[in-house]
Amino acid sequence: MTVTLVPPPAPHPTRTAPPPAAAGPLDVLGVPGQVNLDYAATAPCARAAADAVAELLPWYASVHRGAGALSRRCTLAYERARQTVGDFFGARAGDHVLFTRNTTDALNLLARVLPAGTTVVTFGGEHHANLLPWPRGSVRLPVPREPAEAVRALNAALAELRRPGTGGSPGADRRPPVLVAVTGASNVTGERWPVAELARVARRHGARIAVDAAQLAPHAPVDVATLDVDYLAVSGHKLYAPFGAGVLVGRADWLDAAPPYLAGGGATGHVGAATHDVRWATGPARHEAGTPNLLGAVALAAVCGALAGADRAALHDAEQALLARLRHGLAALPHVVELRTFGPDAARVGIVSFVVAGRDSADVAADLAGNHDIGVRDGLFCAHPLARRLLAEAAARSGRRDLPPTALRASVGLGSTAEHVDRLLAALAAAA
Ligand SMILES: Cc1ncc(COP(=O)(O)O)c(C=O)c1O
Repeated sequence: MTVTLVPPPAPHPTRTAPPPAAAGPLDVLGVPGQVNLDYAATAPCARAAADAVAELLPWYASVHRGAGALSRRCTLAYERARQTVGDFFGARAGDHVLFTRNTTDALNLLARVLPAGTTVVTFGGEHHANLLPWPRGSVRLPVPREPAEAVRALNAALAELRRPGTGGSPGADRRPPVLVAVTGASNVTGERWPVAELARVARRHGARIAVDAAQLAPHAPVDVATLDVDYLAVSGHKLYAPFGAGVLVGRADWLDAAPPYLAGGGATGHVGAATHDVRWATGPARHEAGTPNLLGAVALAAVCGALAGADRAALHDAEQALLARLRHGLAALPHVVELRTFGPDAARVGIVSFVVAGRDSADVAADLAGNHDIGVRDGLFCAHPLARRLLAEAAARSGRRDLPPTALRASVGLGSTAEHVDRLLAALAAAA
């Protein structure tokens, strides 16, 4: 499959204007001349998402709230989107598929439905979205040096939590719940985490596991059943569906037992006259009060459908080739130092963070944008503990004392080309 960058539609597209002949559902929209290497923050819009939204817009009306033809079509589109997205992520028969605003929202929702006394176990390498929502008493394990160390550390931590006298005796059915919350791929380094192995460890200790797949899902198939994980959180805007929807997929029991994430219309089965006379709905509606983001859900489903029909192995190979080109190119620049948690050959998605020695990262990013039309991210990437640690390690590894306190990040995906990578490398070569 070839994936090409196609220009955005004219400012006022008419419904009669055909798309460019070569446009495929996984082509991405973009502005010719602008090199977008910031997919990890927000990926560009896939043609599939744009087309699905354009097709539905004339019918745009209320969801779950109207008897008219438009409204019924929108309700159907929303629920079909739920089905498509659930299928794409391997939702099991007993799972709920909830539309949220994004991954942050999905993980906060999960945090709100944890049974009382749940201990959440994370690693220090997580994005803030998977560090900050969890309740007091959560356990944060140190950032491991390699994937196998993460598995060993989790095993030890869960064994300790399950030790008699520290949270319930082994084998007891009513042990306090434990939830492991881990990323599928780091937004700082792109390194993949050993999710399936961590899930096996969690199972062995009777813990549940949630995967923050915000960065993994855009790059690799993610299936809750195959991975045997309990919950999955994803952002549509990182998955080529830029209309502000996210998803939480996972076990229904905690979701159905908890008070609604948002209280309001759509989340109720019955509301009486007395102040607290309310019976909440079960199922997805319980946590989706208010008018939902129909276009976001439909756009996300369209991308999921397009990816489901694509040759993911070919997409993966193409992305890995670009990633290798980028990393080799960076390694050849003596004033550039890459950030990494694991060894240099650890499996990664198309994300690389690095610093330019002697240069402020914000200045380099501004130079890339202003003088080279290249968009990258700079900062600590909403993963401050990890980014600071990796910056310190990069200084120690390289022996350089002139590394800046923040980093740069380049990320690729559908529509990225070797020319984009080469333009970045050339600009960085001149940035010493
Ligand atoms: C690994 C990871 N988790 C969670 C998030 C939060 O995603 P969102 O901002 O879409 O909620 C991000 C965003 O960069 C991320 O990279």
